[in-house]
Amino acid sequence: MDLEFVHLPVMKREVNEVLNLKKGGIYVDATVGLGGHAAELLKMIGPEGRLLGIDRDEEALKVTEQRLSDKRVILKRGDFSDMEHMLHEEGISEVDGVLFDLGVSMMQLKDDQRGFSFLSHGRLDMRMDKRQELSAWDIVNYYPEHELERILRELGEERLSKRIAKAIVRERGKKTIDTCSELSGIVERAYGRRGRIHPATKTFQALRIAVNRELDELRAGLDASLRILKRGGRVCVISYHSLEDRIVKTFMAQHSREGVLRLITKKPIIPERGELRINPSSRSAKLRVAEKI
Ligand SMILES: C[S@@+](CC[C@H](N)C(=O)[O-])C[C@H]1O[C@@H](n2cnc3c(N)ncnc32)[C@H](O)[C@@H]1O
Repeated sequence: MDLEFVHLPVMKREVNEVLNLKKGGIYVDATVGLGGHAAELLKMIGPEGRLLGIDRDEEALKVTEQRLSDKRVILKRGDFSDMEHMLHEEGISEVDGVLFDLGVSMMQLKDDQRGFSFLSHGRLDMRMDKRQELSAWDIVNYYPEHELERILRELGEERLSKRIAKAIVRERGKKTIDTCSELSGIVERAYGRRGRIHPATKTFQALRIAVNRELDELRAGLDASLRILKRGGRVCVISYHSLEDRIVKTFMAQHSREGVLRLITKKPIIPERGELRINPSSRSAKLRVAEKI
C-alpha cells in the first residue's frame, strides 16, 4: 500500500478492550475504511467469529478486500444506517458489538482527486460515495447565500459564517469556484489573518458534513445499532468533533435513562500521549461506549 495512504487505527488497544470481544462473536465495523480496526478485531474473535465491515467508499473497500481476505469477513458497500438490512441479507439478526470510527480516512483526505482537504488542488468534491450526485462543488456554487451561511454556522460552528458566505457568493459571481485551494484562498482572505489553525478548517468540515449528511446518518446508525445488539452487546463510537460527540453523548445518556443502555464510559476515553505523538490526527478523537441491557 502507498505509504501516503496508510491510515493508523485510532485507539485500537482501547477499542479492543471496551468492545469486550468474545471468541465466536459477531461484530459490525460500521466504518471499516482501510480495515485497521477490523484487522485487530479479527485477532480476538476466533475461527468461528464473524465480522461485517461496512463502508460507503468503493475505493476503501477495494483496499480492505485485499487486506482482509478472510472467510470470517463480509464487506458491504453502503450507508451504516442500513446495517440491519445488510445483516438480514446474511441471515444475521443479532450481533455482539458495533464499532463506529466516524469521519474520513487518510486515504480520502490525502487523495487530491477526492477534494476533501483545504490543501488539495483537486476539484471540490468531498463525496464519500461517488454514486451520490451532490458534491461540495454544487453546494459552493449553487446554494443560496443564507443556506451557505447556515451550513457554515451550524455544521462548522464557524464564527465568520456570514462574512465567508458573502465572500463565496461574490467570488462565484465572477467565475465558478472549482478547486479546494480556490475555496480555501477565499476563506483565508475573508479571515484576513492566519492563526494556528488554518482558517478554512471549519468551512471544509461544514461542507463535508453537509455533502455526506453525516449527522443524520450518525443518528440513524446509532438507532440501528441498538436494534441489532444482543443483550450485553456493546456499541463503541469514536468521534472527531463536538457535533458528533454531542449526538453520541445524548444518544447514550437518553437510552441509559430509559434503561436500555448501560454507560461503560461516563467520560469519553481520549488517546494517550504516545499515540498523539505517532498520530497527531487522533488529537480530537473521543471514544464512548455503552452496553445493551
Ligand atoms: C475514519 S475512517 C475509518 C477507518 C477504519 N477504522 C480503519 O481503521 O481503517 C471512516 C470511514 O467511514 C466511512 N463512512 C463514514 N460515514 C459513513 C456512513 N454513514 N456509512 C458508511 N460508511 C461511512 C468513510 O468512507 C471512511 O472510510
